[in-house]
Amino acid sequence: MKNKIMLCVLLVVILLPVLSCLSAQNSDKFNTDLESQYLMENSKGVVVFNHQAHADMLNDCLVCHHNGEPNKCETCHTKDHKVNTKTAYHKNCKGCHKKLKQGPTKCSGCHKK
Ligand code: HEC
Ligand code: HEC
Ligand code: HEC
Ligand code: HEC
Repeated sequence: MKNKIMLCVLLVVILLPVLSCLSAQNSDKFNTDLESQYLMENSKGVVVFNHQAHADMLNDCLVCHHNGEPNKCETCHTKDHKVNTKTAYHKNCKGCHKKLKQGPTKCSGCHKK
């Protein structure tokens, strides 16, 4: 019995620093300077995306960077991906605006000529 308790204590002592190190690395990935605004040029007209403002107001990076990496959506959502670039953005951007009833949902609210 005593041995089992000692084993548990030992495991916790060894595992805790490993776990906290892993989670620290995870949050460090998102602890980075943001590009404050993106001008997304496309055939429908440019979309001005205020990145920093969204990050601040939503206080959550993963709601958009859903794969846990702060990288560009196009790295995966190419034109040929099963969720292509346009669908990925429309679902993410418009989807949230609809859900929260805040932010533009009409074409011209995002696409400026
Ligand atoms: C509302 C959605 C949204 C939120 C919230 C958001 N981002 Fe982004 N982020 C994007 C989009 C979209 C792009 C890519 C724009 C492009 O490629 O034109 C991007 C790009 C980036 C990039 C650049 C990647 C590269 O390789 O150039 C980094 C870094 C990044 N975001 C970090 C963050 C961090 C850190 C947070 C949270 C503090 C955050 N983002 C919150 C949507 C978001
Ligand atoms: C590392 C690759 C990768 C990156 C980067 C990435 N995604 Fe995805 N995304 C995926 C995969 C894989 C799926 C799931 C496709 C499937 O099997 O349905 C997905 C699905 C989605 C979906 C569809 C969800 C649904 O319910 O249908 C949306 C919307 C989306 N991504 C938006 C984004 C946005 C916006 C960004 C950038 C801020 C982004 N993704 C970055 C890989 C990625
Ligand atoms: C998880 C929720 C969420 C996602 C995802 C999101 N938004 Fe928003 N967005 C909001 C909210 C909330 C507002 C309203 C802010 C206000 O009225 O103060 C807003 C406002 C806006 C506005 C008008 C205000 C401004 O910043 O000019 C634009 C344009 C916009 N969003 C574009 C986008 C684009 C483009 C994307 C995808 C790359 C996106 N949003 C993704 C929640 C979201
Ligand atoms: C919440 C913002 C938002 C709304 C509302 C919106 N879009 Fe978009 N749309 C985007 C973003 C972001 C992209 C991706 C831009 C990029 O990749 O440069 C995009 C891409 C597109 C593309 C692809 C263009 C290309 O060159 O591949 C078309 C077409 C498009 N939208 C049409 C529409 C139409 C039609 C509506 C209205 C029914 C609409 N969008 C509403 C944000 C929006």
